[in-house]
Amino acid sequence: ADLYGPSRKNSAGVELGHDESLDGLLAEIAAASGKPFPAASAIVDGKPVGIAARPVLSPIDGKSIGTVAEADAAIAEQAMKAAKAGFPNWNRTPARIRAAALRKAADLMEARRGLLLALLQAEAGKTLDDAISEVREAVDFCRYYAAEAEAKFATPSVLPGPTGEDNRLILRGRGPFLCIAPWNFPLAIFIGQVAAALVAGNSVIAKPAPQTPLIAAVAVRLLHEAGVPSSALHLTPGDGALGAKLVAHPDVAGVAFTGSTATARAINRALAAKDGPIVPLIAETGGLNAMIVDATALAEQVADDVVMSAFRSAGQRCSALRLLVVQEDVADKMIEMITGAAKELKLGDPRAIDTHIGPVIDAAARQRLDGHVAAMRKLGRVTWAGETPALDGTFVAPHVIALDGIADLTQEHFGPILHVVRWKAGQLDEVIDAIEATGYGLTLGVHSRIETTVARVTEQLSTGNIYVNRNIIGAVVGVQPFGGHGLSGTGPKAGGPHYLMRFASEQTVTVNT
Ligand code: NAD
Ligand code: ALA
Repeated sequence: ADLYGPSRKNSAGVELGHDESLDGLLAEIAAASGKPFPAASAIVDGKPVGIAARPVLSPIDGKSIGTVAEADAAIAEQAMKAAKAGFPNWNRTPARIRAAALRKAADLMEARRGLLLALLQAEAGKTLDDAISEVREAVDFCRYYAAEAEAKFATPSVLPGPTGEDNRLILRGRGPFLCIAPWNFPLAIFIGQVAAALVAGNSVIAKPAPQTPLIAAVAVRLLHEAGVPSSALHLTPGDGALGAKLVAHPDVAGVAFTGSTATARAINRALAAKDGPIVPLIAETGGLNAMIVDATALAEQVADDVVMSAFRSAGQRCSALRLLVVQEDVADKMIEMITGAAKELKLGDPRAIDTHIGPVIDAAARQRLDGHVAAMRKLGRVTWAGETPALDGTFVAPHVIALDGIADLTQEHFGPILHVVRWKAGQLDEVIDAIEATGYGLTLGVHSRIETTVARVTEQLSTGNIYVNRNIIGAVVGVQPFGGHGLSGTGPKAGGPHYLMRFASEQTVTVNT
């Protein structure tokens, strides 16, 4: 395999403009929504073992859509013990068989897309197009990591050495791997972490976000059905305190975490404070993602790309645009076009197929976003606000907020809120320095038709994913390996050729023949 990995195709999309495709899809979603969603629970050695069930509430209307029986400290201990016992057998299982289980899981996800789409909508408030993209990403992660594992893990690499010496590099799993996922990609990121850890030979304890346990339990059952032994994959739904308990466990051999920078720091500190082996952390966190726009940019395209990047998915992507940095000469025109395009977005029930923006994940998220907008309004900085629908769900309208400088945005506001800063011709270096100085480095956009400007931005900024003259969201598995630096994470990039290596232990065997 070369750097780009073995040949492989990503999953097929759905043509929503085609009546038959759309009708078939909606019928599958309706069939899955027409009956209760499967109850979720902690799963250890394939058995449901959670404590007293609690309701799971939908962000669409606050109503219960199912129940979860979470893990407590004793169940977490049980899961760790089971993962430790299940590790050697799974680690000895040939990589091609582990890969076959992931491929089967991908097929099962495609076959059961109705249930997965219905859950993504009801539990995470996703619009239809976001839900479709997420199922596709989950499928693609499984097939991509399967191909990568077959290429890199199946046989030891024979290394050059002096005559009379045989040198081999062998890749294996590390042990029980803890995978901690966020709610905003409750299928794709959840299964992406788990699939990578498993296919590299690790056993897994998976902890989903407390907001989205239903789809996590479906995914774990599906992986078991696909051939992952129940001794190799265990589910421990619960809150951050449960996550912290798992992190502190002495048998954890590695942690894959996606979520906020603050939580990544807490996990890093907890791992560092432990006695025993040094435990690696793979952290993928947030961003203060900027888009630099100069006077040569195509205004219509900028408007489209800004609206897509800042407001679609209710701004709840780690990749979403938070800061538009637009050249003074064209700023008024650009902002007018952006707000004009944003006015056309429909907020509401994400199950309606003409909805562009669904709810934010829960009341706490809405409160945080409303608080930020209220503080900015007091300072006279809110320059445009969309309309919040009079519905029961946790809806937040898109907002545009004017700031004096890039340094004025000090934290990630995880919702449909765009901050705008103006810059003057001749200040590009200051703009680049100020973006780098935020310490984040996840996504960045640049809209310019001047080649040297694009080159300066891409060369001088260390941001993980840079997009030129397009939107900045929706990285595609195997095409745009995704992940950032600094406050945005430790790397490696999900959906990229180096990802699996971080889940592996490497052993060199030298034989004097
Ligand atoms: P979060 O950090 O609050 O929670 C993420 C997970 O960590 C949850 O499962 C939570 O229960 C768990 N957790 C919380 N405290 C913990 C602790 N002390 N120890 C162990 N586990 C703990 O994040 P969130 O609100 O669920 O997700 C949104 C954040 O995720 C945003 O900052 C977003 O930018 C980021 N994100 C990053 C990426 C990426 O690939 N870089 C992708 C998606 C989301
Ligand atoms: N990988 C996701 C994106 O690029 C978060 O939007």
